[in-house]
Amino acid sequence: APIVVPDLSLCQPAIGTSPGFPGEEQVLDCCLPPTNQDNIKEFSFKDYPIRQKKIRRAAHKASAKYIEKYNRAYQLMRALPSDDPRSFAVQANIHCAFCNGAYKQRDTNITLQVHFSWLFLPWHRWYIYFHERILGSLLGDPSFALLYWNWDNQVDGGNSLPPLFAVNGSALYDRNRDANANLGLNASAAPLVRLRIGSAATLSPSEVIQENLNVMYQSMVTASTADMFMGGAYSAGTDFSNVSADNAPLGGTLELNAHGGIHYWTGDPRATLRGDMGVFTTAARDPIFYAHHTNVDRLWEVWKSIPGGRRTNPIDKDFLDAEFLFFDENSNLVKVKVRDALDYEKLGIEYKKAHKGDNQWLNFEP
Ligand code: C2O
Repeated sequence: APIVVPDLSLCQPAIGTSPGFPGEEQVLDCCLPPTNQDNIKEFSFKDYPIRQKKIRRAAHKASAKYIEKYNRAYQLMRALPSDDPRSFAVQANIHCAFCNGAYKQRDTNITLQVHFSWLFLPWHRWYIYFHERILGSLLGDPSFALLYWNWDNQVDGGNSLPPLFAVNGSALYDRNRDANANLGLNASAAPLVRLRIGSAATLSPSEVIQENLNVMYQSMVTASTADMFMGGAYSAGTDFSNVSADNAPLGGTLELNAHGGIHYWTGDPRATLRGDMGVFTTAARDPIFYAHHTNVDRLWEVWKSIPGGRRTNPIDKDFLDAEFLFFDENSNLVKVKVRDALDYEKLGIEYKKAHKGDNQWLNFEP
């Protein structure tokens, strides 16, 4: 049977762990603000009409005007009180709550985990969908769209921290990052992302680029079935209590490799478990998290368009009917299904290519 929505009245402190730090943990109360569960709204396309397309662009190419708007959106979100479901604090807690054991699968004592399986891509698509709608509604701009951190682009600057996130003191800044990564493209020698966790510190810039292309090729091209790329089946009763990022047999290639690599690379080596980005409990406290996941979401679409293999979403009912809860821009608690997230154009989303450097890993044979 598919995963159904959890009972939100049963919440426990979440426990964060990280593969690089065996035995270490971070206990956090990230329970969602009390809401009346009798008023859960079922998602329907007609209740969320597309007024204007949301055109998601590469962050390193954003115009000064767009950067200003992006800043304003996060300022407004950060200014909301922390019990407001639209606040930045609650937005961050949503990630913690469904990843680190705060909620259990309904009528069981089994942790609800949205990572390491076929739920990963659709859950995060819904998450950024509502996050983006909230930011747009705070701005009063229904066309507002998230930017994507184009870290797979090794050609024209996508592979560093985008400059808008590296301005100390802005609403897009997070001091809990690796200090070197946080220099972003502003640095004269911009630090390059490492898509491989455990990449050797001694690599030259061109070796880093080769390594990144290699990781991308394997995650996107070699992984030619949904099972490999998106991850394996997770249904009601699947118990991931012993599964973590370094031991996740059902995890998909994009999630476990480049996606995880970016989390690790961005997090602060001096912080507990390399937070913020390095551990689920705190990752979404960094505004760059949402731009990171916008790129992951874009790459899901790119993967489907690559020739060869069986690159289609699963059709299993346990996948299509899996349910999640989110807050929308009016603070409604909304129940969504995986099946409604599979066509991003139906959600009003469009991805604009970066000028150069799109998907050059496609032709990179390791
Ligand atoms: Cu929910 Cu990037 O992880």
